[in-house]
Amino acid sequence: MNVLKVREDFPILKNGLNGKPIIYFDNACMTLRPRQVIEKMNEYYYNYPACAGRSHHKLSKMATEEFSKSRSIIRKFINAKSDKEIIFTKNTTEGINLVAKSFKFHKGDVIISTDKEHNSNLIPWQLVARQQGLRRERISTKEGFDLQHFEHVLKHAKSNSNRSFVSMVQTSNMDGTSIPLKEIVNIARKYDAVVMLDAAQGVPHKSVDVKKLDVDFLAFSGHKMLGPSGTGVLYGREELLNRLDPFITGGSTVDDTTYDGATFTQLPERYEAGLQDYAGFIGLGAAVEYLKKYIDDIHVHELKLNKIITEGLNTHVNILGPQDPKLRSGIFSFNAKNKMDHHEVALLLDSYANIMIRSGRHCVHSWFNDNKIDGSARASFYLYNTEEEAKIFVEKTKEILKMK
Ligand code: ALA
Repeated sequence: MNVLKVREDFPILKNGLNGKPIIYFDNACMTLRPRQVIEKMNEYYYNYPACAGRSHHKLSKMATEEFSKSRSIIRKFINAKSDKEIIFTKNTTEGINLVAKSFKFHKGDVIISTDKEHNSNLIPWQLVARQQGLRRERISTKEGFDLQHFEHVLKHAKSNSNRSFVSMVQTSNMDGTSIPLKEIVNIARKYDAVVMLDAAQGVPHKSVDVKKLDVDFLAFSGHKMLGPSGTGVLYGREELLNRLDPFITGGSTVDDTTYDGATFTQLPERYEAGLQDYAGFIGLGAAVEYLKKYIDDIHVHELKLNKIITEGLNTHVNILGPQDPKLRSGIFSFNAKNKMDHHEVALLLDSYANIMIRSGRHCVHSWFNDNKIDGSARASFYLYNTEEEAKIFVEKTKEILKMK
């Protein structure tokens, strides 16, 4: 991967901010977009700004064709069996909510997650469990994912004739650790559990093959993978998607209605109510086309940057998660040993060095509360970040910490 060439495609990296270069290390929140994505979205607005899948005029046909093409591109990218298994959503959050609210649970069924879930894979389950009388189990990742406890929970549920639904974060947005997916799926299959992944930090960084992973549902966001904001995807096995209850309903979701009822339509439209963000999803197709050229190199590249930063700063900061950068993908989450506040670190990096990171609890409040930590500063990398930027980050962070 030629990082310098890649950078040429990103207007904000080429132009900088007010003429000054930026170091953008907030990729776990939102990535930058290449001109190819921006141009593709503009193509929609300039050339065929119409609704897809409804009208019979030329503009609508063009929009329909591009919108469907995009779905196929995304389907191929994650190797799903059919375009019907690709549901367009607003983001990962909506994908998880869709499944949580529409899956047909029975009282006593068990929802199994980790102790490091993003609020989006926590709150929907808290609500559904309360409303439908489900149990929730939490698997500790403190000393590595507790596979033994995981199997115990599944076995116990099955022996009580309850179904287990595993919904877990593939890679944590907080500390970058990943769950042992292969082992988890193997065990889950032994006990007939359903498996869903919050893949918001997975799909953008490593090649994901839903057939090989053998998962039932997988949700991810477009804006974390070079795509437009407010675009996301829910993958689901066709037979399971077909058995979900309707979610948001309205235009497109039905074949027919009477004053008293509705006949719901086929996948994927059944779960895509109302007019869609056509420019966004067409742009997401362009993002995936762009990303697929580099997807096999991104993880290794991020590890390289994480190693430079870890080695440069580990005597100055406490790192969240394992010390070994190879276990933290493209995430470096930290607190200063001299106790400079994480928000202050982030603000100073921004104002003093044009380095953009995130600080706070990264929507994983539950973990921070449980561990009695206020929050952290977090640098997160992507394909366009350079080793040079990683070195500057180390130096500038050291300088800033001296200000305390
Ligand atoms: N989940 C996003 C982040 O980690 C918002 O920044």
